[in-house]
Amino acid sequence: MNFLLDTAHVDSIKRCCEFFPVAGVTTNPTIISKENTDFKSLIYTIRDIIGFDRMLHIQTTSTEAKDIVKEAVELDKLVGRKNFFIKIPITAEGLKAAKECKEAGIGVTMTAIFTQTQALIASNAGADYVAPYINRLDNIVSDGVHVVSEIAEVFRMNNVNTKILAASFKNVEQIHKVALTGADSVTINPDIFDMLIYHPLTYYAIDDFDKDWETVYGDKKILDLIK
Ligand code: G3P
Repeated sequence: MNFLLDTAHVDSIKRCCEFFPVAGVTTNPTIISKENTDFKSLIYTIRDIIGFDRMLHIQTTSTEAKDIVKEAVELDKLVGRKNFFIKIPITAEGLKAAKECKEAGIGVTMTAIFTQTQALIASNAGADYVAPYINRLDNIVSDGVHVVSEIAEVFRMNNVNTKILAASFKNVEQIHKVALTGADSVTINPDIFDMLIYHPLTYYAIDDFDKDWETVYGDKKILDLIK
């Protein structure tokens, strides 16, 4: 399962790409608005940081199919026509736009998915990814992981090529459970990347290794001993 960053915060993207195996970046209008900066240079900067081997998913701000397609075509040009996906919320206009974007050779992520049937219809429209929102389902006493597991099952039963890019996470447990569904990818905020690898016993173990080494070799490191 791949891990993407759900942020447009430049410093966080730089840090996460340096330390973590980041497969790409996803944005939506809320995430972009938080940065409150020039949109075009922000997108350029993100592409510059992540390079062309990582995915970039940018959400449309239009609602009518013809305008969504125009945005997708221009964004695709702007970010280098490689590993770009236009994120389109699932509406009737969105489905029409998804089909036309695919015909134009542009990657499509159908987003704001809350049900299994929305995901199946998005796959029929040719979407490369569907983005179900886990935490927002959990927040209304629904079960986000259950929805994702049934989307995965329905896709398997129908031999669907569309992949699941699960979004909206607040904790590691949700990510762990989504991983068990066989979802292809999750997109998470930078803080959750740190939470994914945190365990106090890891730090206790590292402390013990350091103490035991120092009792014999003092402050010398391996390179001091082998060069
Ligand atoms: O990409 C969709 C995702 O950003 C929604 O997450 O945390 O706003 O529910 P959240």
